[in-house]
Amino acid sequence: AAPALAPGAAPGLDLEDVGIGSVRQQVVNLVREALATTVPDVEDIEPQVAVCGNPKNGDYQCNNAMGIWSKIKGKNTSFKNPNAIGQALAGSLPRSSLTDSVSVAGPGFVNIKLSDRWIEKKLHQLLSHGVGEWAPALSYKRVVVDFSSPNIAKEMHVGHLRSTIIGDSLCRMLEYCGVEVLRRNHVGDWGTQFGMLIEYLFEEFPNWEEIGDQAVGDLQDFYKKAKIKFDVDAAFKEKAQKAVVLLQGGNPQYRAAWAKICDVSRKSFDQVYKRLKVTLEEKGESAYNEYIPGVVEELKGKGLVEDSEGAKVIKVSGQTIPLILVKSDGGFNYASTDMTAMWYRLNEEKAEVMVYVTDVGQSQHFDMVFKAAKRAGWLPEDESQLPRARHVGFGLVLGADGKRFRTRSTEVVRLVDLLDEAKDRSKQGLVERGREGEWSAEELEEAAEALGYGAIKYADLKNNRLTNYTFNFDQMLDIRGNTAVYLLYAHARICSIIRKSEKNVEELKKTGQMKLQHPSERALGLQLIRFGEFVEDAASDLLPNVLCEYLYTLSGMFTDFYTNCKVVGSEEETSRLLLCEATAVIMRECFKLLGIEPLYRL
Ligand code: ARG
Repeated sequence: AAPALAPGAAPGLDLEDVGIGSVRQQVVNLVREALATTVPDVEDIEPQVAVCGNPKNGDYQCNNAMGIWSKIKGKNTSFKNPNAIGQALAGSLPRSSLTDSVSVAGPGFVNIKLSDRWIEKKLHQLLSHGVGEWAPALSYKRVVVDFSSPNIAKEMHVGHLRSTIIGDSLCRMLEYCGVEVLRRNHVGDWGTQFGMLIEYLFEEFPNWEEIGDQAVGDLQDFYKKAKIKFDVDAAFKEKAQKAVVLLQGGNPQYRAAWAKICDVSRKSFDQVYKRLKVTLEEKGESAYNEYIPGVVEELKGKGLVEDSEGAKVIKVSGQTIPLILVKSDGGFNYASTDMTAMWYRLNEEKAEVMVYVTDVGQSQHFDMVFKAAKRAGWLPEDESQLPRARHVGFGLVLGADGKRFRTRSTEVVRLVDLLDEAKDRSKQGLVERGREGEWSAEELEEAAEALGYGAIKYADLKNNRLTNYTFNFDQMLDIRGNTAVYLLYAHARICSIIRKSEKNVEELKKTGQMKLQHPSERALGLQLIRFGEFVEDAASDLLPNVLCEYLYTLSGMFTDFYTNCKVVGSEEETSRLLLCEATAVIMRECFKLLGIEPLYRL
């Protein structure tokens, strides 16, 4: 429900008719009514609304006429051509304060120009009620996002960093759209490697229960040593294999050792999440283990399970290999767990959409899991229907040499080291700008973190996620490029313009009025009110780069406005300060959805 109008919001401005949702959705609603009046007998027509290809023609256009024409031509209709349908649609578009003018072009494109007054009101709506009323409505209410998901006892690597950054941003966008998001960390905590790790712990640290975390120490190192022993010592290997059976059978001592190892891992993952301000709920592979046998039975009952070289498999179309549900030794694997996790998410968690964020290398795995789920009737064949599963794949992180990103020692890169470096370099930059003397140590730290971590996040999010991306500190920290640093500076500059005016914006919001006069003011205002539909596109296509592009364009439009229009000390000062404030508000909302902390001065 829309909150009541803020008391005293913009004098004489009745915000009653500005409506809620994204602007495009508001235009769609008008077009839907026009379609119902113009062609009541034509079924299955969804409003087709896009931004005008040529801004001279208007702001939005309705493209339905041609499609309708191909459905009705030759039948009993009074329309002579698509243009006539366009004319009729334009004529029956409900009168609304939203539209300034409506025109028809070519084969029935209906061009709609938004009224300047309405854009101004939308901006006042933002300034007095916040951005919540612009949130687009999505067709689903509950989503599981499976992201980050590192493996226990192995270092979290840059691939997991990408998954964490992309996944978190998608969650934030969905949450803004009013979706209930279950943020799931599907950690790899249940592989056969645990036999070896536990046995190694018992042998090397008989007192492991007393010395706790120290026994495991650096987990990666611990893992390596256990692996060496496993490879060279046959007796140890045999013990390790038996340990897997004991662990999976629920032996209390083995369970306790497993829990200890997981705990140490968790603490190191949490360091990364804490720095990046990412929240996640761990529900690792082990959580689904008890449900696997039941799910295998269900799938057998549906006649989907076949024998193949001793393994139990499900065949799926378009793949040369089947999905292995039970291994030939009777054990379960990654796929058994993912089938079961999906069953759990659908039945226990009532998810309508399930999103999996991993590198594109796992596309085949997810393709098979999703197809098996369709064969089981868990998911509909028609992907426009719910429930729905989506694999959000992303490319590799490359180093300057164009190869998989590694440090000099060819070891995998430690994430905390990367974060430290981004922060240190940012701090260095601030010191060079003389901020050390002006700011407290705490402020300097905060700004360095916002810049450094923001830079890493934005560099990752701004690319189409499917492409590989090159990790480059100089590029991502460049104040002149399409970077978080540039955008954070742009935001801080707007805040400083407002400060310089020495006006109280909170007062202005209540008493002042916005007037969009100059073309660059209108262009900026229009871009601002379109925030909701960019989030809508980014969230429905699961592409955070769409929002990054929006933000970067917005920043450019602000520059145009500021170059063309004098703000402080001008006759239009009040209106223009409000436009500055609206821009700053929307930039902050973008930062929020991208997981970046805003800075108010730099
Ligand atoms: N642990 C896996 C990896 O590091 C990613 C898990 C992704 N989620 C899933 N449900 N399979 O590659």
